Amino acid sequence: FPVENIRNFSIIAHVDHGKSTLADRLLEMTGAIAKTERNKQVLDKLQVERERGITVKAQTASLFYMYNGQTYLLNLIDTPGHVDFSYEVSRSISACQGVLLIVDANQGIQAQTVANFYLAFEAQLTIIPVLNKIDLKNADPERVASQIEKVFDIPKEDCIRISAKLGTNVDQVLEEIVKRIPPPVARGDEPFKALVFDSTFDHYRGVVTNIALFGGQVSKGDKIMSAHAGKVYEVNEVGILRPEEQPTDRLYGGQVGYLIAGMKEVKEAQIGDTLFHQKHPVEALPGFKPAKAMVFAGMYPVDQSEYSSLRSAVDRLTLNDSSVTVQRDSSHALGAGWRLGFLGLLHMEVFNQRLEQEYNASVIMTVPTVPYKAVFSSAKLIKGHRGVQKNMVYIDDQRVMMKYLFPLNEVIVDFYDHLKSLSSGYASFDYEDAGYQPADLVKMDILLNGKPVEELAMIVHRDKAYSSGKALCERLKDCIPRQLFEIAVQAAIGSKVMARETIKAYRKNVLAKCYGGDITRKMKLLKKQAEGKKKMRRIGNIEVPKDAFISVLKRK
Ligand code: GTP
Repeated sequence: FPVENIRNFSIIAHVDHGKSTLADRLLEMTGAIAKTERNKQVLDKLQVERERGITVKAQTASLFYMYNGQTYLLNLIDTPGHVDFSYEVSRSISACQGVLLIVDANQGIQAQTVANFYLAFEAQLTIIPVLNKIDLKNADPERVASQIEKVFDIPKEDCIRISAKLGTNVDQVLEEIVKRIPPPVARGDEPFKALVFDSTFDHYRGVVTNIALFGGQVSKGDKIMSAHAGKVYEVNEVGILRPEEQPTDRLYGGQVGYLIAGMKEVKEAQIGDTLFHQKHPVEALPGFKPAKAMVFAGMYPVDQSEYSSLRSAVDRLTLNDSSVTVQRDSSHALGAGWRLGFLGLLHMEVFNQRLEQEYNASVIMTVPTVPYKAVFSSAKLIKGHRGVQKNMVYIDDQRVMMKYLFPLNEVIVDFYDHLKSLSSGYASFDYEDAGYQPADLVKMDILLNGKPVEELAMIVHRDKAYSSGKALCERLKDCIPRQLFEIAVQAAIGSKVMARETIKAYRKNVLAKCYGGDITRKMKLLKKQAEGKKKMRRIGNIEVPKDAFISVLKRK
């Protein structure tokens, strides 16, 4: 395929502005998928994506498009919009020369529109602004085009106005991709050089890598090597994604596709690695900046006997989501486990859900915390500021963009939900790391019947210690079911108890309603109770539901 006729692009946008819907239309119009109701959001393959209606993984699709009598190969990489998954966006972008920047013509520029724009801008990609949802009654594409001109310095005439839902002007999008985005720079006569920009683990075939070819070509039977692991592999299969895998004889420079080469170990296919022919070593591509974990939590198997199967599940899932960091850890109450780092709370929930759905694993996650650097000294005295305004820009007369410096701990849990409800859904939010700041923090222990539970301990600001302790005890009281004996729930700093709640003794006698002798019914009820207990975790002699560790953090 002539490299001049290849276009590699990705779609970026704020959450819900219509990326996946536009991707569906592009796939339909180029004949990659049939036009049916069933084919909605085809690139959202994961169960968690379908359930939550959000994209968490970037996906790739190759489309063939006829323009001016020539066939073009358009490689589309769909990306997630939520702030927690921006790592996926930056990885996708590295395989592209251009992006479609989708903006909802009703909502206008939002926080992730700005964040994603800069990712593409800094990578020096061609940016095509696309105003979506012009079919909506309240759509105001004129206003949004002016916002784009003002904030991004892109002439408003460059905006394409579409309705991804109805298909209006989507043909223009295809045309403009061909006209405005440059083809990749790659020559077929160079040595083979490819960037691994994604990889998944397949139970039967081992590691499947998604690669972008920066030069040369690769086909079945070739002996290749990876710069990182330094091992030699024979290529078993190459092909393109349409979006289903379609084997081809060869992949050429400039193309995007998949490659299977008998890599059995997750570690062998690092995302960001460079592949080359064994006989023609090349300089490794720069790869990716490692993702920076913002939230940490402990994870343990519900049953210790599941430790090793859980470990391989975590290995495989982190291959597919390399932004998660993993360290071994162990806990007095919960046994052997790991300490995982995530980009945000939604990221952590999605990871947990994928483990359960894709690997059938049952885990306990502990209270998430943000990283701190502790300095032990008698004078830890500098008062930390909790939210300092940095600057403010009026996007137009209806919208303002404000920058604040916040302690990460204040924004990580439910700041976003709170902001949404305060602004009736109008405000949007994005964040980046601003480094460590000194603050007056204390460790708050949670005690169940006098015994501290390390997994529930947290670091809080001294000024908030009393109110957080009280709220936490109240929430734990709601989470922990009554048991045969009374349970005291206390929050303490050192030896000083800040708050206390009591859970009264009680036992649910599941057999109470079973008079007389129906033994099978009795067995059934006891079995059901036992299943309920599986979801519990024994701490000392107290049973704590496994989701208590996270749910205590959320505001009611
Ligand atoms: P994430 O994958 O979660 O980042 O969202 P997304 O940007 O992919 O948005 P998605 O395509 O899921 O669309 C969000 C919602 O907007 C869905 O309910 C779509 O049906 C709706 N939508 C998308 N395009 C249009 C459009 O052109 N007009 C109207 N009226 N609704 C649209």
